[in-house]
Amino acid sequence: MQTVLSLCKQFKVPGLHFEAGHGGLTKAVVATNVAAGEIYLHGAHVTSWQPAGHEPVLWMSRSSLFQPGKPIRGGVPICFPWFGPHASDPSAPAHGFARTALWEVTEAQTTVEGGISLSLQTRIDSFSVRFTVEFGSVLQMTLTTEPGPGISVDQRFEDALHTYFSVSDVRNVSITGLEQVRYIDKVDGALEKPATGAAIEFTGETDRVYLKTDSECHLHDPGRNRTITISKSGSQSTVVWNPWIAKSARMPDFGDHEWPEMVCIETANVGSDSIALALNTSHSTTVVIRVQ
Ligand code: BG6
Repeated sequence: MQTVLSLCKQFKVPGLHFEAGHGGLTKAVVATNVAAGEIYLHGAHVTSWQPAGHEPVLWMSRSSLFQPGKPIRGGVPICFPWFGPHASDPSAPAHGFARTALWEVTEAQTTVEGGISLSLQTRIDSFSVRFTVEFGSVLQMTLTTEPGPGISVDQRFEDALHTYFSVSDVRNVSITGLEQVRYIDKVDGALEKPATGAAIEFTGETDRVYLKTDSECHLHDPGRNRTITISKSGSQSTVVWNPWIAKSARMPDFGDHEWPEMVCIETANVGSDSIALALNTSHSTTVVIRVQ
């Protein structure tokens, strides 16, 4: 198992170090002229990104757990190889095993613009999975899935880069880019609904899976005087989530009064957009996040 000491010896990259984070879990810490950021080996979980000249972009719950076997609340959980509850096993963890697996760092280097790129990998079920993150003036994350060694059948999976964005107040932000996209409304009996033709605004619990879309989204936050752009490839679903009051109160690792501070825009392949992975192939889901 990689330790803080072994990681520091193996990856001597200026602007990058490893240390024990919350709960004693190992994290990589990036501090360069172009960006600061952090990623835990537990879940390959990015917990912060702050491009130079801007406020932090990702939201973290102050009630998050940092424990082996438990997901971290906020940042960018990796949902894989299924999204939400398991289709047939109610005892299986929501959003799959990736976000609670211990990942191994395989590469770390300085990028052309002076940021830091890290790659981590793990095995999940019968898949080999690699996660690459570039902490720079933009945040770029790619989840690449291949059949694990010895696997001889095609396999299907779902994935999501379940990104929590920090906002001034969710009641005063809007999301554009999905006006023409139909969606499954998980707060209305998982009904499939037609495109609304309008920007998304938040007036209550929102849990929507937009299908068959590779659209770029814009998160407009006048209170922070910023717009966050989310571009993607290898992803056909976009999930938009805010738990609002009652659901926040039900979640033990989410503060009762934190819901106005966040919104999730998730780069995903779920439900009818799940990926059929043929032998000798791989699939990459990529998201690029920019602040303007
Ligand atoms: C969202 C789902 O992606 O994640 C929601 O659409 C879910 O239904 C939310 O509540 C958080 O999930 P979890 O397992 O991290 O509490």
